[in-house]
Amino acid sequence: MTRKRVLSGIQSTGESFHLGNYIGAIRQWISLQEDYEVFYFIADLHALTVETKPEILSKRTLAAAAQLLALGVDHKRSAIFLQSHIAAHNQLGWVMECMAGFGEASRMTQFKDKSQKNGADRTVVGLFTYPMLQAADILLYQADLVPVGEDQRQHIEITRDLAGRFNSRYGTTFNLPEAFILKSGGKIFDLQDPTSKMSKSSGSTNGVLEIMDDPAKNVKKIKGATTDMGKEVRFNEVEKPGISNLLTIQSALTGKTIPQLEDAFEGVGYGDFKSAVAEAFVTYFSPIRERALNLLEDEPALIQILHEGAAKARVEAEKTLNLAYTNLGLVR
Ligand code: TRP
Repeated sequence: MTRKRVLSGIQSTGESFHLGNYIGAIRQWISLQEDYEVFYFIADLHALTVETKPEILSKRTLAAAAQLLALGVDHKRSAIFLQSHIAAHNQLGWVMECMAGFGEASRMTQFKDKSQKNGADRTVVGLFTYPMLQAADILLYQADLVPVGEDQRQHIEITRDLAGRFNSRYGTTFNLPEAFILKSGGKIFDLQDPTSKMSKSSGSTNGVLEIMDDPAKNVKKIKGATTDMGKEVRFNEVEKPGISNLLTIQSALTGKTIPQLEDAFEGVGYGDFKSAVAEAFVTYFSPIRERALNLLEDEPALIQILHEGAAKARVEAEKTLNLAYTNLGLVR
C-alpha cells in the first residue's frame, strides 16, 4: 500500500523557532512522519518577499534546517530540503501565475493586509504572486495533505482552484490537496500578554520562548510570566489566561493532561508552578538545542543533508513539471 503524501513549508523569520511554532506546527509535522510519506522544506524563496541581509538570510535558513532535524524530522525517512534548491518550484510557479486571475489574486487576504499596511509602492510583486509559488510548491509533489495553520487556509484553497482549473483545461495532471489544519488546541500565547498569540512580531521579546536561546534566559522568562488574580493553578482561559497558557505549555512538554496537572499542582503556589514549567522546558529543549548547535557546527555536513533531501524531492518535482509542460503543449 502506498502511503499518502504530506507536504509543508515553513519560512524562517529568525535564528530560532519559538515554542508556539513548535507546539503549533513542527511537533505535528514530526508525528505525521509515522503514517505518511513526507516532504518538508524551508521556503527560502518566499522569504525574499521581505528584504533581508544576505548573511542573515543564509544563517536563518541553516538554523531552521538544523532545528527541524534536531526536533525530529528524520532525513532518512523524509525529504527535508530548501525550496531554492529545486528550480521546478519557480518553473511551475510561472505556470500557476498564468492560471490565476488578477482579481482572484488581488483578493487574497495576506496580500491585501500586507499591501494595505505598507502601501503599494512598498509592496513587492513577489508578495502578489506568493500564492502561485506556494501552489506550485504543493502541486509538484502531488501532495494529499498540507499541514498548515489556519492563516494558510486560503492559500490551500487557491491551490485547489488552480489545480482544478489546470486539470479541466489540460487533462488530469495534479492531485487536489487538502488542508490539514493544525489543531489550535495547543495554541501558545505570549507569556507577557497571554491574550495574544506567541509571535516574533509581538511587542516585547520577554513573552516569547525561543528554543535556541540560552536555557537560563528562558527560565527567567517563564518565571517572569504574567499570572493572574487568585492563587490556584486552574485552567480558565477567560479568568486565568496566564496560568492557562502555562498549563497548556506544561501539558505539551510533559504529556500530562490539563486535569492531571491541576490535580498535581493542587495547593501549589504560582511561583513553584512556574519553576516546574521552567524545569520541564529546560529538560525538554536542552538536548534539542544541543543537537541543533552540533549540526550548525558542521555546515558542510548540514548542507549535504539538504542536498540529499533535494535530490529525493527533485525526482518527484521534475516528473510533475514534465507532465504539466507536456499537457500544456510545450514541445518537449
Ligand atoms: N506560506 C507558508 C507560511 O507562511 C509557507 C509555505 C510556503 C508553505 N510554501 C508552502 C506552506 C507550501 C505549505 C505548503 O507559513
